[in-house]
Amino acid sequence: MTDIMGAKKAIAELRQEIERHNRLYYVEARPELSDFDFDRLLEQLIAIERQFPELVTPDSPSQRVGGTITREFPSVLHREPMLSLSNTYSLAEVEEFYSRVRKLLLFEGVAEQKMVAELKFDGVAISLLFRDGLLVRGATRGDGRQGDDITANLKTIATIPLRLDGRLVADLQGEVEVRGEVFMRKDDFERLNESRLEEDRFANPRNATAGTLKLQDSAEVARRRMCFVAYYLKGLKDESTAHFSRLELLSRLGFFTGDHYRLCQEVQDINAFIEEWAGNRWQLPYETDGVVLKLNDVRFWEKLGATAKSPRWAIAYKYPAQQARTVLHNVLFQVGRLGTITPVAELEPVLLAGSTVSRSTLHNFDEIERLGVMIHDRVIIEKSGEVIPKVVRIIPEERPADAEPILPPMHCPSCQSLLVRPENEVSYYCPNEEECPAQIKGRVLHFASRNAMDIQTLGEALVEQLVARGLVKDPGDLYFLQEPQLEKLERMGQKSAQNILRALEKSREKSYEQLLYALGIRHVGRATARELSQACPSIDALRQSSEEQLATVPDIGPVVARSIIDYFAKPSWPQLLEKLRTAGLPLCASEPREQVNRNFEGLSVLFTGGLDRYDRQAASELVFERGGRVVGSVSKKTGMVVAGHDPGSKLQKALKLGVRVVSEDEFEAML
Ligand code: IVH
Repeated sequence: MTDIMGAKKAIAELRQEIERHNRLYYVEARPELSDFDFDRLLEQLIAIERQFPELVTPDSPSQRVGGTITREFPSVLHREPMLSLSNTYSLAEVEEFYSRVRKLLLFEGVAEQKMVAELKFDGVAISLLFRDGLLVRGATRGDGRQGDDITANLKTIATIPLRLDGRLVADLQGEVEVRGEVFMRKDDFERLNESRLEEDRFANPRNATAGTLKLQDSAEVARRRMCFVAYYLKGLKDESTAHFSRLELLSRLGFFTGDHYRLCQEVQDINAFIEEWAGNRWQLPYETDGVVLKLNDVRFWEKLGATAKSPRWAIAYKYPAQQARTVLHNVLFQVGRLGTITPVAELEPVLLAGSTVSRSTLHNFDEIERLGVMIHDRVIIEKSGEVIPKVVRIIPEERPADAEPILPPMHCPSCQSLLVRPENEVSYYCPNEEECPAQIKGRVLHFASRNAMDIQTLGEALVEQLVARGLVKDPGDLYFLQEPQLEKLERMGQKSAQNILRALEKSREKSYEQLLYALGIRHVGRATARELSQACPSIDALRQSSEEQLATVPDIGPVVARSIIDYFAKPSWPQLLEKLRTAGLPLCASEPREQVNRNFEGLSVLFTGGLDRYDRQAASELVFERGGRVVGSVSKKTGMVVAGHDPGSKLQKALKLGVRVVSEDEFEAML
């Protein structure tokens, strides 16, 4: 694209299309595009904007991708204090609240009293400021009066419109403030934790959200896919717009409002709402911890006023933490990939917060001591925001006569080595790092996990067999497995064996950064691996770095630096390195952008069918780095079509239109 008018038009169209799909995906939950196709739209936009930087505006969807690293967050004053809500666990107090408000309304001569019942989202409260429709500032609550300006991080959230569409409401001139909760969906939370090392996992989505909003790297924030629910709107010209209508307006402006709010007339309606969601909330894809009730008629908000901490026109009813009573039958000891021994309680299966629980972690022996728990005890387990239930207490008066103490194991349950407990640490460790089958299995599974080398065919049962038969002693061995060896394993046919080899083959295309994470160095999670891959672009550079050099890398402190040094000093490392090298795994970062050729300059490329040596994402990036762009549909203007195996109808169309079609080999030659 060379002329600016054309670019302007293309940008406008792409932006509109992207925001429409964002809305379909996040707000309306009925996506029309696959993630891949969506990313391609975004890539196209970024490519044009890169060519015409003067056309980049702060409300472009490309600004959500993040990338700015701020050193610290400036403090900002809230337009009006961000109050919290008074909380109650009692339905009687909810009724009292209702009657209190009713009295005031009757006193004012208003007979009808409506309350809006909303779900209480378990996240982090934030405030968004729009000026003449444009998002200008996003801030945390802080102490209520003053918070942190985290605009760059908030812009990465797809359910926060960067510009409010003035056509929908006439009066968006001046300042409009929207408040709401940033939260993480349960599945996104689990994915995030999966990508983190055991020792760095977040306890619940709320902690993960709070931790993420504090990050200084908004590109990382973007990757964590947080959401925003709006529940408060201030600054409309018509100050009397009722709260319920404001929520609907927010939804029309592109905000997610939770959809489940309801107008309640009587106390009974409120009770019914609370009761209904006590059970239903477990089916929601995000966590809620209660119900918020707000007076619908905002004209009385000011009259009712506020205490120092909370308004008198609203109240939060919190559901009691979900608890269940059960019996602790036994305690198992699990061996992690770093040798840590974790006691796990085997429980009588019991229904809790929508799922059956039969296990719960006891963390370590300090925790066992603190609880005073014994085998056969009757215990109370709880789920309160946390995804994994925990034993909160025992019922001492019901301790059976045959209760037995839980003794620390002397030997590793996997390799029988004598366990050690380092001074000042709460856990026992298996010191047999090199040979312990459980540790090897843990390392291999981590290596193959989704955010590492993503070898999905390598499940737990298979790895267990591979390790038990001595076929795999470290992740490097995976790449030397032969089809006949695999076929001899239990529940394995020729086809599955081939699938596994194919998946292993494919994993070689992963990046150096993913490989660094996959190695499973203690304290090196995804984000640290990314920093390391940039600071030390090859494994040789990394292992030759001194502790002092490592400690200068952003986000790497002395503990992580020490752990990296220790990792490369292990006697088994040279062997593993040799295997990884021979297997052709990515031991250095791919060429930086500037050094790549411009062979695809100005060319629009369409992929159809599967490629053997690249996944679509990787292939698109290669084109992109070389000055080309990737498109999703064929037209006469398409520069080139790369046809893989089983191409779709787009190939026919391209041939009909006379567009140049190349094979994967030709494409590779062009690179
Ligand atoms: S209204 C002035 N509505 O719960 C009114 N808050 O415990 C401001 N929260 O600080 C809050 N869901 O962080 C409101 N539907 C909802 C909410 C909600 C979650 C949070 C919010 C608030 C806290 C109070």
